[in-house]
Amino acid sequence: MNEKLQFQLRAQISQMDSISTAPAILMPLLEMLRLPSDRISLEKVVELISYDGAIAAQCLRLANSPLFGRRQTETVRAAVMALGLERVRSMLFGLCVNRVMPQDKWVIPPDAFWRHSLGCALVTQRMANKIEYPEPEKAYLAGLLHDLGFLVNSVLYTDGFRECLRLAAEQHLALHVVEEQVLGFSHCDAGQMLCEHWGLSKELVDAARCHHDVCLLPKAGPLACLVHLSDLLCRVRYLGYGYEEFMGVDLGGDAAWQALVRSYPALEHMDLVRFTFDIDGAMDQIVATVDAVFGAKTMTAPASG
Ligand SMILES: [Fe+2]
Ligand SMILES: [Fe+2]
Repeated sequence: MNEKLQFQLRAQISQMDSISTAPAILMPLLEMLRLPSDRISLEKVVELISYDGAIAAQCLRLANSPLFGRRQTETVRAAVMALGLERVRSMLFGLCVNRVMPQDKWVIPPDAFWRHSLGCALVTQRMANKIEYPEPEKAYLAGLLHDLGFLVNSVLYTDGFRECLRLAAEQHLALHVVEEQVLGFSHCDAGQMLCEHWGLSKELVDAARCHHDVCLLPKAGPLACLVHLSDLLCRVRYLGYGYEEFMGVDLGGDAAWQALVRSYPALEHMDLVRFTFDIDGAMDQIVATVDAVFGAKTMTAPASG
């Protein structure tokens, strides 16, 4: 990405109305996201949710869904306790982003975007647990947020990004490769800038910036490597961006995998085939969570153009 384009994109992001003017709940939420999970206050979360009727309703709806045994949860506090802070934190973020994204600007169908993001979050966290990464919640968050740059490209470069998706789908190519060719930058650059603009931690910024770049990954740290691998696994298990990619994945030969194995030798003995079966088993839960959070409306988004 050349310097002029970088400067221009950064300026556009800081002035971008829809995403810069986030709902009132988003900034305090981002403050909270920076804290380790054991320092997040339940009372504060309940307070934040209670400010916003629509979000409180979603929270109750999810807590009362079959995923959580259809409990009779009637207060925000009980709903938060039933769901667990981590799940609530991720759900709140999803709802906020869904709200700041103008409905007519979605290029990737929203249900595909959320399935991919939630899928990556889950897989990243599972891998993090496997390697005993000290902050698995942060890993979840990194997976959840890694493709935020798609939202920037959807809002700022709607037509160009639509063309990227059309070409990528037609030729079964990775979207970031086509973005580079058509726009001169990818959602990784845009995501990096949005994460910086929102004041997210350096590790989250790096995961957004480097997750498709095998040259940068070995130096970017374990979180970015985990996100890269989770992204590949999700895309190969039909949790991509709503079209079929022709891609061969050789995890063992992947630069990010090799970098991780150097730091976490336990990975060397991991049964990759079994691990991907595990992920398949979790997909039903992912899809059910997306249904419960976003409802049927986003699940019937128009096919990508
Ligand atoms: Fe990506
Ligand atoms: Fe991704």
